[in-house]
Amino acid sequence: MIRLAVLVSGRGSNLEAILKEAAAGGLNAQPVLVLSDNPQAPALRLARAYRVPVLGVSPREVGGREPFFRLVEEKLVEARVDLVALAGFMRILPAWLVERFRWRILNIHPSLLPAFPGLDAPRQALEYGVRVSGCTVHFVDEGVDTGPIVLQAAVPVLPDDTPETLAARIRQEEHRIYPEAIRLFAEGRLVIDGRRVIIREAE
Ligand code: GAR
Repeated sequence: MIRLAVLVSGRGSNLEAILKEAAAGGLNAQPVLVLSDNPQAPALRLARAYRVPVLGVSPREVGGREPFFRLVEEKLVEARVDLVALAGFMRILPAWLVERFRWRILNIHPSLLPAFPGLDAPRQALEYGVRVSGCTVHFVDEGVDTGPIVLQAAVPVLPDDTPETLAARIRQEEHRIYPEAIRLFAEGRLVIDGRRVIIREAE
């Protein structure tokens, strides 16, 4: 069983999918910490309901971005975390933290990367006029949404879509592939080979 931390900023629907699957015993991972940069995040209420230890603290209360991420590091180390899952965590990690947890941080992004990195990906996809979009689980490196890709899922873009309806359709797939990617990591089946992630067969 690996020890999992989830970093969130908002609603927490991916967090919920992860906690549900972990509680059902399907992840091979024990959620040991949910951490948010927003003490008011609904995701924290959800984590408490699942009896997972939480910490909600805004960078402002601790003196800015750098002290905030030092605190994050301290808490992750203290909780002896094996894997960090960013689930709607809307901040870019400092390079030193990425290095400290090299290939032990996953992120979910609501587009088929490398298309539409950064903020408002469903809106970017609609404005570009693509027919298909989706979501990507990837390892975090020093870039913005640039790390090696673990899993992707595609969804159609429909004529009447708004950014909200497209994002909701994409989220359904996120809730399926994020727990799956965490399970593959927990089972030791992900091997990084340059930009590619090889998924080993189950033993
Ligand atoms: C998700 O759609 C996730 O892909 C996106 O934020 C949403 C969080 O929803 N993440 C990003 O855009 C990261 N750049 P949730 O709080 O309900 O899981």
